[in-house]
Amino acid sequence: MKRSSTQPIGIFDSGIGGLTIAHAIVKQLPNENMVYFGDTAHLPYGDKSAATIQAYSVKIAHLLLQQNCKLIMIACSSASTAAYELVKEYVGSKAIVMNVVDPTIQWLHKQYANHSIGLIGTRQTVHSNVYKKKIDALNCGIQLTSRATNLLASAIEEFGNNSVTRSLIEEYLSYPDFKHISALVLACTHYPIVKPSIADFFGDKVAIIDPSEIVAHAVKQRLMEAHLLNTHQDGSKHFYVSDYTESFASGTKRFFQEEILLEHYPLWE
Ligand code: DGL
Repeated sequence: MKRSSTQPIGIFDSGIGGLTIAHAIVKQLPNENMVYFGDTAHLPYGDKSAATIQAYSVKIAHLLLQQNCKLIMIACSSASTAAYELVKEYVGSKAIVMNVVDPTIQWLHKQYANHSIGLIGTRQTVHSNVYKKKIDALNCGIQLTSRATNLLASAIEEFGNNSVTRSLIEEYLSYPDFKHISALVLACTHYPIVKPSIADFFGDKVAIIDPSEIVAHAVKQRLMEAHLLNTHQDGSKHFYVSDYTESFASGTKRFFQEEILLEHYPLWE
């Protein structure tokens, strides 16, 4: 089937984390129509098995295909590391599928060759070892040290950037192996929401890498290459959630500075 530029971009995450990516995409590509799915009923993803995350991801990809998306962005590191290959296979030639890992790694390759870098992410992301394997395959001298910061995404979802979240950040980042890093990758799309607190912890000794803009830029490139960039209109936004949560409702409002209608779409009935 021939794709057209006015078809929407589909974006999904377990909750508000993917909004960091969605927001960057809307900023860089204001004409694009967007469909966002927040799988709030199954949050957090990071502690689930890869098989469970794969099952959720394929279901969501199915919904996004029904919504006629030209591109599906897996705006969740946990799902990108657990389910990217499977979602790509499922979607086939019906849409472009992208993840948050590959654009970040390509960027690190250009900017941080021969540096010692830290990474924080969910248990799934860190234990999958996907970032490390892909970085090592580039053979560019990046030394990667990763730490699973298991409770952080849920704390961000529940409390935002308050003192509970800040104590977790302090606990997780006080990690001897992070003593000599020059940059820290926020390898969970929830973490840019608390980037100022993470940056405060290190002072200006460590650069904090928020992949949102990098990933949005990669989406733009990919659409340009495929001649699918929408230049015609002001983009629309449509939000689905598998469960209505206060945190998601206030998150969307905060990110987009407007009242946003959330449509309830239970994944399993
Ligand atoms: N935002 C997600 C990620 O990038 C998932 C957080 C979670 O649900 O555990 O990994």
